[in-house]
Amino acid sequence: MENPALNLHAVADDGRPMATVLAIASGKGGVGKTNIAANLAVCLAAANQRVLLLDADLSLGNLDLLMNLHSKYNISHVLSGRKSMEEIIQTGPQGVRVVCGASGLERLADISEGEHCRLIQHLGRLQRETDTILIDTAAGISRSVIGFCLAADGVLVVTTPEATAMADSYGMIKVLARKGYAGPINLVVNMACSLAEGKQTYQRMADVAQRFLQTTVYYAGTLLKDERLCAAVRSRTPVVLAYPKSQISESLAAVATRLGGTRRPVGPDDSFFRRVIRWLN
Ligand SMILES: Nc1ncnc2c1ncn2[C@@H]1O[C@H](COP(=O)(O)OP(=O)(O)OP(=O)(O)O)[C@@H](O)[C@H]1O
Ligand SMILES: [Mg+2]
Repeated sequence: MENPALNLHAVADDGRPMATVLAIASGKGGVGKTNIAANLAVCLAAANQRVLLLDADLSLGNLDLLMNLHSKYNISHVLSGRKSMEEIIQTGPQGVRVVCGASGLERLADISEGEHCRLIQHLGRLQRETDTILIDTAAGISRSVIGFCLAADGVLVVTTPEATAMADSYGMIKVLARKGYAGPINLVVNMACSLAEGKQTYQRMADVAQRFLQTTVYYAGTLLKDERLCAAVRSRTPVVLAYPKSQISESLAAVATRLGGTRRPVGPDDSFFRRVIRWLN
């Protein structure tokens, strides 16, 4: 099923629109989340969106490598007061802004009330200065990954056609469904051998989620296995810039277009970061 891209703009307390937040998650590791996050960010920025990428995978995060950035600092330096938010943000290709090490947010439970408020203000400002925030989460269904997903306006679940990846992605969808997640859950099938295999993989997952979880999973697209993506990683360039005319780049652009308009109805307390903290505490 195609995602019915709802175009409701989130609005901040001061009346200004706030960024839409999309969390990219998988269950199983190594299925392509980081590459998809980086490439979607570049595609959305090329369509004149102000994009912020949050690397929420502190242990294995390699978003900075992929965007050819050299990050010394992350959110933990902001939490400890050693750096300001502006100082830790880096600018990658196509003007995409990147925050490394957002899983430092997990430490929020331990910080003082004053620090808490300051951080929320910093992060809220980021959300007002941005059109789309993409969160590259860690593999697995840890509390922090689930917290980021539950706080996001939409979730993009990545799977491959492999049975183990499908089982783990289904596990992720199941947790979101059980927690009553209200945003759209989209599925992208990566490393497929053919479009037909991708669509079949999607259909199987969507059918099972509908039948056992009464949850709709939307089709975000299929990305074929492509050696050019590996070559792009080696040259530290997102594939949509390294091989813009390739089929995989066109497929990534199509996924970006499908997800670009995803919104969910706005509640009174609409700061993404406030929601993350609520879920983590
Ligand atoms: N469509 C594709 N075709 C070929 N190789 C791919 C494709 N997508 C991803 N890869 C390769 O798979 C590997 C894992 O990709 P990536 O780091 O994006 O996955 P991940 O889900 O973020 O992993 P982790 O769970 O460790 O964070 C990379 O080496 C990448 O080159
Ligand atoms: Mg990754």
